[in-house]
Amino acid sequence: MTEVTLVEVGPRDGLQNEKAPVPTGAKIRFIEALAGAGIRRIEATAFVSPKAIPQLADSTAVLLGIARKEGVTYSALVPNEKGYDAAKVAGADEVAVFTAASETFNQRNIHASIEESFARFLPVFERARADGVPVRGYVSTAIVCPYEGRVEPRIVASLARRLLDLGCREVSLGDTIGKAVPPDVRRLLDACRAEGILDRVAGHFHDTWGFAVANTLAAFEAGVRVFDASAGGLGGCPFAPGAGGNVATEDLVALFDALGIRTGIDLGAVVSAASAMETHLGRAVGGRAAQAYKAACTRNGG
Ligand code: HMG
Ligand code: MG
Repeated sequence: MTEVTLVEVGPRDGLQNEKAPVPTGAKIRFIEALAGAGIRRIEATAFVSPKAIPQLADSTAVLLGIARKEGVTYSALVPNEKGYDAAKVAGADEVAVFTAASETFNQRNIHASIEESFARFLPVFERARADGVPVRGYVSTAIVCPYEGRVEPRIVASLARRLLDLGCREVSLGDTIGKAVPPDVRRLLDACRAEGILDRVAGHFHDTWGFAVANTLAAFEAGVRVFDASAGGLGGCPFAPGAGGNVATEDLVALFDALGIRTGIDLGAVVSAASAMETHLGRAVGGRAAQAYKAACTRNGG
């Protein structure tokens, strides 16, 4: 049976743009519930400047507080060596470095040019190699930049290749503002195929315009087998105007279930994990599949 891997980014990407402070205990319970749902890769938090992302200022307490489930990788986003140090002390199993394919977004997001971002990663790669910590990479604005417009696929593919050559195990390609459509995704993946890296890229589709499930399917059909998603469809980047939530984990689990492709994730358990966050966020969350699942439970008297 064909399998795909979903990387849960709800606790990091999902929460980073939320204004109301979410209690540390609620974040920990969210992560534990997601692991309980069968998710095996969870991006738990970010070790970034608390001035840039106040919501994730409790990253150490979150990582240290999780009752870890065997077989689950708990990773953390890090922009530089300082972030790596803190992530390592807090016990991150994996770290993720992030750059972008457009200069303006990179400046707004991390106050660095693309070249400067790579210079900041070098000590992270060195330290991670010595410590045996796997490194994931992100290339944001992989299709459209909110400041510069459309981005050339070959530029994205060559940045991804550079990250892989430096030691990333995989590079996630971010449609940061959720404007891509399937033909864009196919062009980007053609460029990745030409670079010989298609088997090491992941899809990270924000769902601002409702195209993320279609983009996931296009990427799956092109050969991608790893997709980032966020329980409840939470997400967004404060430095990317117009960025909506990530594709909902529930939507991808339901899609792959319907296609007979194994994710190992229980849809109902993800719906419950996301619902438990609603009181902290002050609003209902969840994508289309979560609504359909809840409606089916009501019809069946469950
Ligand atoms: P800076 O101001 O240029 O750097 O920020 P700096 O070295 O001058 O440091 C400024 C302050 O930050 C100092 O503290 C440092 O100690 C501190 P102060 O002296 O002012 O008290 N600092 C840190 N604190 C904690 N952890 C660290 C760290 N590094 C420095 N690691 C910096 C540069 C990168 C730090 C900052 O701009 C930053 O933290 N940016 C993070 C932005 C972010 O998290 N964006 C969202 C994630 S990316 C995303 O969502 C896209 C993605 O989902 C994919 C997609 O959708 O496309 C991944
Ligand atoms: Mg994102």
